[in-house]
Amino acid sequence: MTRSIQRRPLVAANWKMNLLPREGAALARELLPRIREETGFVDVVLCPPYPGLAAVADVLEDGAVGLGAQNSHWEESGAYTGEVSPRMLLTLACQWVILGHSERRQLFGETDEGVNQRTRAALAAGLNPILCIGETLDQRDAGQVESTVLGQLDRGLDGLTAEEVLAVAVAYEPVWAIGTGRTATPEEAESVHALIRDRLREGFGEAADAVRILYGGSVKPENAGELFGQTDIDGGLIGGASLRAEDFAAIVRAATREAEQP
Ligand code: PGA
Repeated sequence: MTRSIQRRPLVAANWKMNLLPREGAALARELLPRIREETGFVDVVLCPPYPGLAAVADVLEDGAVGLGAQNSHWEESGAYTGEVSPRMLLTLACQWVILGHSERRQLFGETDEGVNQRTRAALAAGLNPILCIGETLDQRDAGQVESTVLGQLDRGLDGLTAEEVLAVAVAYEPVWAIGTGRTATPEEAESVHALIRDRLREGFGEAADAVRILYGGSVKPENAGELFGQTDIDGGLIGGASLRAEDFAAIVRAATREAEQP
């Protein structure tokens, strides 16, 4: 389908806590020739764990594929053991950062308030946040999809201007679909994406039409095309399948087919 507005698809790889630096560099090297043409139509971003950033940046040096980290703190420096600041990531050639991933929220106690602070600091430093939101299975079963997802969205983006929100990609990732092999159907996902788009319009006006809303949760080559074909699904945040060059390349190709090609 052709989109009425110009939202270039974005496909981001979330490698999570996988791959040593040399393994990440090898995967990036394997991937690049497979998606060279696609990068003319789709933004592709690789998010290795911190130790792999420099090695992967070396492989991506021509800039056709972007680099992102998996988290960043709100302070520039200080006594925050284990944390990394946006400015530190900029020195490693990152342009993107995943924030508020459900694993951070569930396993490491991150809150909406903290995610908002991280988002604002990342933007102030010049990074593009990928803000993750999504409901658990219990919340879905209790009929709380809308309140959960829109609540996380509102609190995550609190205080941003319309101009700032243009630099953000929102990733809708139902927690029950992450790493489980169980994907939201294209219709289930689209209905939540449309709610997110409407809420962005309420808060930020027409800027909402330019914000990429990604779907994440067991995206694979077999289901990517149908998901990306939905009106408000502008790409994906890919975990497990991004660790295999062939699969990730196939997902990027699926996004290219949905891109508005000249
Ligand atoms: P998955 O992970 O593709 O392995 O489900 C997605 C994510 O957690 O970002």
